[in-house]
Amino acid sequence: MAERNVSKSMIASRKSLFCFFTMTSILFILSWFLVLRYAARPHFIDDNLLPTSRTFSVIDQNVESTIGNRAILVDNEKEEATQQTQTPDEEDDGLKGSSCDKLVLKVFMYDLPPEFHFGLLDWKPNGKSVWPDIRTQIPHYPGGLNLQHSIEYWLTLDLLASEFTEARNAHSVLRVHNSSEADIIFVPFFSSLSYNRYSKVNPHEKKSSNKALQDKLVKYVTAQEEWKRSGGRDHLVLAHHPNSMLDARMKLWPATYMLSDFGRYPPNVANVEKDVIAPYKHVIKSYVNDSSTFDSRPTLLYFQGAIYRKDGGFARQELFHRLKNEKDVHFSFGSVLKGGVRKATEGMRSSKFCLNIAGDTPSSNRLFDAIASHCVPVIISDDIELPYEDVIDYSQFCIFVRTSDALRENYLINFMRSIGRDEWTRMWSKLKEVESFFEFQYPSKEGDAVQMIWQAVARKVPAMRLKLNRSGRYTRSLSSTE
Ligand SMILES: *[C@@H]1O[C@H](CO)[C@@H](O)[C@H](O)[C@H]1NC(C)=O
Ligand SMILES: *[C@@H]1O[C@H](CO)[C@@H](O)[C@H](O)[C@H]1NC(C)=O
Ligand SMILES: *[C@@H]1O[C@H](CO)[C@@H](O)[C@H](O)[C@H]1NC(C)=O
Repeated sequence: MAERNVSKSMIASRKSLFCFFTMTSILFILSWFLVLRYAARPHFIDDNLLPTSRTFSVIDQNVESTIGNRAILVDNEKEEATQQTQTPDEEDDGLKGSSCDKLVLKVFMYDLPPEFHFGLLDWKPNGKSVWPDIRTQIPHYPGGLNLQHSIEYWLTLDLLASEFTEARNAHSVLRVHNSSEADIIFVPFFSSLSYNRYSKVNPHEKKSSNKALQDKLVKYVTAQEEWKRSGGRDHLVLAHHPNSMLDARMKLWPATYMLSDFGRYPPNVANVEKDVIAPYKHVIKSYVNDSSTFDSRPTLLYFQGAIYRKDGGFARQELFHRLKNEKDVHFSFGSVLKGGVRKATEGMRSSKFCLNIAGDTPSSNRLFDAIASHCVPVIISDDIELPYEDVIDYSQFCIFVRTSDALRENYLINFMRSIGRDEWTRMWSKLKEVESFFEFQYPSKEGDAVQMIWQAVARKVPAMRLKLNRSGRYTRSLSSTE
């Protein structure tokens, strides 16, 4: 009896063990299934874990049109096809295109007093208008380093011109005078110029005129009907120089900023979802009729720039020590302007690759100088943000190297030497195709920097509207319905 009982209970425990084993296996498989499913979800779910997306819970709704727009760099036949499929999307966004393939952004511009814009260029108003009559005279923008951040000037001119030009089709933007009809509200403060020219605190003054102007701007803008209506969510504010708007940006942050990078911004004040990255204006002249080849550019790798002491700048000195003994590498310190634009032009035009290493900010105009010189950019800047990257695939004409890799023994030089004639030539031709996207000019031309920037802004409009509509959910309170 005793024996039988033992064997019975053994059978029972075996049965339960089997049961237990099956259950755990099922649970295990189920959990894997869930993990895989989770991993396959779109990224915005992960993004919700980031602190910034709590404030700006904008789900990327441009995904479809983004894929379509990538065709800008794809062969021409494909481009036409995708542009046609794109059109219905754009109409959904409420952006009317004047031709079938282009967004025309409707912009209302505040009539800020001239001291905020062309007055900074020493232009004096003639009569009542705060704007120059650009049909008769275009205020001159100072040269030199100021030009790098002159985007404020080119965008404002283009906006003013959009009213006069007969060929409206040639424009990406249209100035409207009724703010209710506008897609965005433009704040025409030349903040980079203000920073470059007026940051010094004069004796007898408590603060610089740059700071005083920013305070005045905040007061002006936040008092406007348009700002109150939207809380600033549909406003566009220019802050291309990394040090411009240092004071005002903490107060105008619901607006979309036009920036060169996010290096000096806390993520809740500026981020990729909300803001627009614009190119620097290159200081080296475009290489017209470039017929150079892989073999006619003797220098393998070119770098000219300042030594930085702080932050990300340490990579520059490390690389200098790694590369200084390579015969076909040019690596020298000193600003392009000090070293002479002519010398830098010659240097870049006779090099296959041009280094862009993070300095005290992740971006610099050197990248755009390299593009203008058709010198394939090698980007060592882990936090760099690039203009219109939703429609341009930079990997087709730039080489990206992680800083940690670049600092490994011989990694960079071996990498550069491993890129052969065919691959380099492909990237060089791509550079010639895309260079116009980084060209600032007046009047603007189809597909130049000015129009690419307006279109990048236009692609932000649906997200702005979404934020606006969401923010308006609870505006109807008991008192207002009675
Ligand atoms: C501005 O546009 C809105 C909407 O289209 C319209 O209701 C309003 O009357 C317009 N205002 C003026 C001053 O024309
Ligand atoms: C480039 O080539 C075109 C056509 O051959 C010529 O008309 C033009 O002057 C050249 N430009 C420069 C800057 O060499
Ligand atoms: C926001 O509301 C307007 C109507 O006022 C509508 O036309 C628009 O499509 C809405 N935007 C979004 C993104 O839902």
